[in-house]
Amino acid sequence: MRIIAIETSCDETGVAIYDDKEGLLSHKLYSQVHIHSKYGGVVPELASRDHIHKIIPLIQSSLNDSDSTSEDIDGIAYTAGPGLIGSILVGASIGHSIAYAWNIPAIPINHMEGHLLAPMLEKIHPTFPFIALLVSGGHTMIVQVIDIGKYKTLGESIDDAAGEALDKTAKLMKLGYPGGPLISHLAQKGTPGRFRFPRPMINHPGLNMSFSGLKTSAANIISVSRNDEQTQADIAYAFQEALCDILIIKCKKALQQTGIKRIVIAGGVSANQRLRKSIEDLAKEIGGTAYYPRIEFCTDNAAMIAYAGMKRLKISKKSNLIIQAKARWPIDTLESTSF
Ligand code: KG4
Ligand code: ZN
Repeated sequence: MRIIAIETSCDETGVAIYDDKEGLLSHKLYSQVHIHSKYGGVVPELASRDHIHKIIPLIQSSLNDSDSTSEDIDGIAYTAGPGLIGSILVGASIGHSIAYAWNIPAIPINHMEGHLLAPMLEKIHPTFPFIALLVSGGHTMIVQVIDIGKYKTLGESIDDAAGEALDKTAKLMKLGYPGGPLISHLAQKGTPGRFRFPRPMINHPGLNMSFSGLKTSAANIISVSRNDEQTQADIAYAFQEALCDILIIKCKKALQQTGIKRIVIAGGVSANQRLRKSIEDLAKEIGGTAYYPRIEFCTDNAAMIAYAGMKRLKISKKSNLIIQAKARWPIDTLESTSF
């Protein structure tokens, strides 16, 4: 069976083709970062307009690359949420139009489920159950993954997502967008101990997290500090340390609480080298194993949507003509809403 997938939930247009026997045959990504960077964040209307221009050429080139024609494709998966509604609607309507024209099922996929299953695209991947730390620009959550479609959110950020805190802090530092990779790069030259940021809620019971206090604290320090390169690197270092500490402390609690020894990190912030190293260390400490996708599958991509789509296509091949597009779509509700 072969599936084509479309990802348009934010500022990246992605298309992938996945075959259940041969694996990933094509994976294309067009990033709109250059369009949004001058605004310091994603402008939703510009994002949706650009997806319209890029999606069909990407689909055509993915089909060519994988030597596939419409005859070879058994289903089309598209990101149906959560994300920017205008952008999602572009992928959803094109997905359904192609499904109708080719007489194949259209499969709505939850973007966070895609991130969560991205490590399954790797040769060495976790078995179920596992604990997943999903850290992206819009979400920060710890999920118990019982099986595909069976997700239990154990904790989440009560305010900003970790990626959002990185992006907003980078904006205050006038570094550009997206902030995560820029802060991470600067942090490499940072001096340990010059600044220290708070780690809110780490001693609270439960697995919820908070990043807005960390962001405010960074804003205060930025406003009174010199703007030289070393000071910026030192702030970036301290900020990254605090952010990673919060995430790791809560992951450790989740592993202890559930007794599960496999931990996955996914979503854009999981591209962060400091976080990847810390999660490896945590796994070693508890006698478990850490898993994460290759860097290009940490940030938004269609390969993860194709993988999730294939799993769901195998469960149900029925065609559904209802176009699904949801700005919000909690992962815990998936089983009941996606079929
Ligand atoms: O998953 P993603 O591509 O899009 C969403 O679904 O939100 O995540 C984007 C987020 C942004 O906040 C970006 O700053 C962050 O991931 N990010 C990073 C790194 N690469 C991307 N954060 C820290 N370190 C990185 N290397
Ligand atoms: Zn994402």
